[in-house]
Amino acid sequence: MNPFPDDFLWGAATAAYQVEGAYQDDGKGLSIWDLYSHLPGATYQGANGDRAVDHYHRYREDVRLMAELGLKAYRFSISWPRIFPSGAGEANPQGIRFYSDLIDELLKYGIVPVATLYHWDLPQALQDQGGWENRALIEHFARYAKTCFEQFGDRVRHWITFNETINFIMLGYRDGVHPPGVRDEKRAVEVSHIVNLAHAQAVLEYRKRVREKKIAGGMIGIAHVLLTGFPISESAEDVAACEWYEEMDFHWFYDPSLQGRYPPRLLQYYQARFQAPTVLDGDMALLQSAPSDFIGINYYQSAFLAHNPADGVGFAAINVSGEQGTQKDSGIPGLFKRVRNPNVAYTPWDWSIYPEGLYAGMKRIRERYGDLPILITENGLGDKDPISPEGEILDAPRIAYLREHLRACQRAIDEGIPLAGYFVWSFIDLLSWLNGYQKQYGVVYVDRVRDLQRKKKQSYFWYQQLIQTNGAAL
Ligand code: BG6
Repeated sequence: MNPFPDDFLWGAATAAYQVEGAYQDDGKGLSIWDLYSHLPGATYQGANGDRAVDHYHRYREDVRLMAELGLKAYRFSISWPRIFPSGAGEANPQGIRFYSDLIDELLKYGIVPVATLYHWDLPQALQDQGGWENRALIEHFARYAKTCFEQFGDRVRHWITFNETINFIMLGYRDGVHPPGVRDEKRAVEVSHIVNLAHAQAVLEYRKRVREKKIAGGMIGIAHVLLTGFPISESAEDVAACEWYEEMDFHWFYDPSLQGRYPPRLLQYYQARFQAPTVLDGDMALLQSAPSDFIGINYYQSAFLAHNPADGVGFAAINVSGEQGTQKDSGIPGLFKRVRNPNVAYTPWDWSIYPEGLYAGMKRIRERYGDLPILITENGLGDKDPISPEGEILDAPRIAYLREHLRACQRAIDEGIPLAGYFVWSFIDLLSWLNGYQKQYGVVYVDRVRDLQRKKKQSYFWYQQLIQTNGAAL
């Protein structure tokens, strides 16, 4: 039996900075990534999104390829500094026009637009005012969100406030490898609370406009990382390490947006260690007043956890200088460390390939947060795709990866998990934040030698067939 519902959203995703380019066109302001990617040694061989794959100028061609692929939905992100070049002040009509045109183009082919408000490209002008450490950002974000709801909410019915709070917060403020390049765990914890408040405020802005019938109703939620944890052995110590990991990397980020609270044991731990986060009167009430309509999950890999002694490993700096990143052991001394599982396959970038983790993760999400609809907002394989002498892009490993993960989805749906859609990451080859363009994810290839020409990969045809049969061809 084919369990995919008839209205299943077969999708693909991208994000503004990774595809658009045109970083200074039509009144766009600079984002933190526009500056950070230009710092020596910050990214692989200095790769940046100045031009990216020029989606800004080629979106019509790209949407045509989406239509031919048969996509039911496309997830993209809106670049905040295109809409508000200096973070605040007047909105930029040319920025609004670009997204408006993109949305119309999608709708022309019957493709459902799924918009993410924040996929990491904060206006630099707001970073200059303290970035996410400044509570004023809550209001700035709410105003930006409100503008997007009012401009696009007549046509966009699926909204995602933030993409992967864990990543831009922890990589940006704890590990120092994303902007603003800070290495201070206490500051990361403070930022996580402010971002949660900004999310909640944006949800309220949305609901208010729907209630006042200023825009049509839809769904609003957030996209979180799902990096399911498994103890590397059955020992009580490794099991306890895994529980701490799940608390820190999963519950800490999901609970505030889905339950309006923080996991009590970890809150206590952070308070004891850092006296953070600073929770003001009214904060928790705000979080509680803004439940999400769905849960977006970005799943690539699982984590295997082991006990980490008090003098054990801390966070290893992520290696961006090599051809392929190596994920060294990393962890929190005294709590847990991530280790390699010798029984599992890994990608060239050392990401575990473990579809079971997607299935198990969805089950854990349902156990903890109930029956909210789930959208898999990202899933895909980063690889170096060889090209045959005839010029065909050979990405059979990507097909195998997607197939196995979709089978995990099939199993989840079979067991009653309300999975409403699946978005391949990514629609097109794009900039991998720290790894440049050599780490490819797309079902569409971009020829970086021949003027960014697009070419369908094997995975494109495979996915096309799958969509046509509503998943029966899996
Ligand atoms: C997710 C992000 O973390 O993973 C994407 O939402 C990103 O923007 C993707 O590209 C893959 O990560 P990476 O580091 O391999 O590009």
